[in-house]
Amino acid sequence: MLMKYLCTAFFCVFPIVNHAAGKEFTEHDMAHYRERIKSMFYHAYNSYLENAYPYDELRPLTCDGQDTWGSFSLTLIDALDTLLILGNKTEFQRVASVLQENINFDSDVNASVFETNIRVVGGLLSAHVLSKKAGMELEAGWPCSGPLLRMAEEAARKLLPAFQTPTGMPYGTVNLLRGVNPTETPVTCTAGVGTFILEFSTLSRLTGDPVFEKVARKALRELWKTCSDIGLVGNHIDVFSSKWVAQDAGIGAGVDSYFEYLVKGAILLQDEELHSMFLEYDKAIRNYTKYDDWYFWVQMHKGTVSMPVFQSLEAFWPGLQSLIGDLDSAMKTFLNYYTVWKQFGGLPEFYSIPQGYTVDKREGYPLRPELIESAMYLYRATADPTLLQLGRDVVESIEKISRVDCGFATVKDVRDHKLDNRMESFFLAETLKYLYLLFDPDNFLHNDGSHFDTVSGPHGDCVLGAGGYVFNTEAHPLDPAALHCCSQARTERWEIEEILSGEREPPKSQTSSTGEPHEQTERIILQDRKKRKTPVLSCPSQPFSSKLSILGQVFSTENT
Ligand SMILES: *[C@@H]1O[C@H](CO)[C@@H](O)[C@H](O)[C@H]1NC(C)=O
Ligand SMILES: *[C@@H]1O[C@H](CO)[C@@H](O)[C@H](O)[C@H]1NC(C)=O
Ligand SMILES: *[C@@H]1O[C@H](CO)[C@@H](O)[C@H](O)[C@H]1NC(C)=O
Repeated sequence: MLMKYLCTAFFCVFPIVNHAAGKEFTEHDMAHYRERIKSMFYHAYNSYLENAYPYDELRPLTCDGQDTWGSFSLTLIDALDTLLILGNKTEFQRVASVLQENINFDSDVNASVFETNIRVVGGLLSAHVLSKKAGMELEAGWPCSGPLLRMAEEAARKLLPAFQTPTGMPYGTVNLLRGVNPTETPVTCTAGVGTFILEFSTLSRLTGDPVFEKVARKALRELWKTCSDIGLVGNHIDVFSSKWVAQDAGIGAGVDSYFEYLVKGAILLQDEELHSMFLEYDKAIRNYTKYDDWYFWVQMHKGTVSMPVFQSLEAFWPGLQSLIGDLDSAMKTFLNYYTVWKQFGGLPEFYSIPQGYTVDKREGYPLRPELIESAMYLYRATADPTLLQLGRDVVESIEKISRVDCGFATVKDVRDHKLDNRMESFFLAETLKYLYLLFDPDNFLHNDGSHFDTVSGPHGDCVLGAGGYVFNTEAHPLDPAALHCCSQARTERWEIEEILSGEREPPKSQTSSTGEPHEQTERIILQDRKKRKTPVLSCPSQPFSSKLSILGQVFSTENT
């Protein structure tokens, strides 16, 4: 009944978007928007350098800086690869050496394991892999060694103590100097467990130390085991008991990048296990949470709707769908989300779908990238001019609403366009990068394989930079060819070691080999891959716990 009412409401509230309306984009318009986006970037970036560096973030209304995620000069790390994407090699080189001289991870800071991974480790890894493109001097052994790679590794090592739990699923916070605080809560959000495989497997394959990929994979497999018998996962989990503390299932805050990393991990690592996990979730998500190309929040065991809300963070979903080839569904959902942008000139953090309006206390738009990210992927796939139209609307809105003398300010409330004294580092890392890439079809990151570099790696010559870049959830691109270049021999050795140490079942028939040792290696790996396909298709259900989360906050049932 409720659904019937909602469905009628949609058609009244949202006009059909006119597909033809974006046809006017010429080469000249594209170039015009590239220049506009560049000048937005430099306004934000120079304001940060002049007023806030070495703090993490700029405060654009007071023209000063503040530390937000851990005293890493975070905005500089996050913006580094965007400089290169906008064509600024000299500034990339300057910043890369400034970071090497000034960043110290040996500090008494309580850092978010998730944020440090995606912004700091991801940013440094991406900059490392792009440093040839940026004209940096390279040390012998690059891309399998280098100063930025060593910094990324150092930062990631500080996060490893978080994974020392009975399940291997990580705590949410670590102290960079002391490890996990004794009073740390064992409750972590789903994305905080499942958003490591891109950075950690890149680190392992580039450096040769398997520990990172191993902990990330263990966390993913433990999380997979906890899905409900209708195939959904909740929002917060106790990493000691594997019990779900917040049982809302959806695709937004607290979960989002877990699904993203299953798809992108499958692509980066050519990994069937991750791919089939995602496809199983996708079936359940479509079956239980999707209504008229919107996605709701539902109870993870029963599938009943708990929040008919669209969250700004969910706008990455159409982009993810385009990566698995689901363009039709992606475009329909994108157009729903675009109507919300048009209604407010930004996306409120939460939007009530039945009411067609913002949700109390979640009216802000912190200049998030997700809708633009989806537009970029979809434009690559469809060339539909509606997607450029969204890009144009974003440039015009942000310039009009949030540009101030010292940068760009978070929108506190999309209804009256009041501002907050914050400019998040993702504005430079993601929002402006995806916007630029939307309007720059010839960018090197869109390379279709027709250009590439050749370098001599430790196992022979390597092709690099041939395209197929995979963006981490902070929009830091990773080159799959670099992983391959450094790891050909290594990954084979690890798989054998896993089998020998009993962490992985050996293949059934171990016939005596008459061939070369190398041939035998290949045979074991092939047999093992075949075996892996089946067990991922079933997931045991979890006991019920009496807590629920509303609008991202966790309550126990006594209080409600
Ligand atoms: C690169 O960035 C620096 C710092 O903002 C700026 O001074 C310089 O003009 C930029 N160069 C290019 C080619 O855009
Ligand atoms: C880190 O968190 C612990 C536990 O909450 C607290 O005792 C400590 O003072 C915090 N350290 C810093 C530098 O904030
Ligand atoms: C879809 O949901 C129905 C119950 O609403 C269930 O019977 C069916 O098995 C589900 N299908 C899938 C593929 O999850």
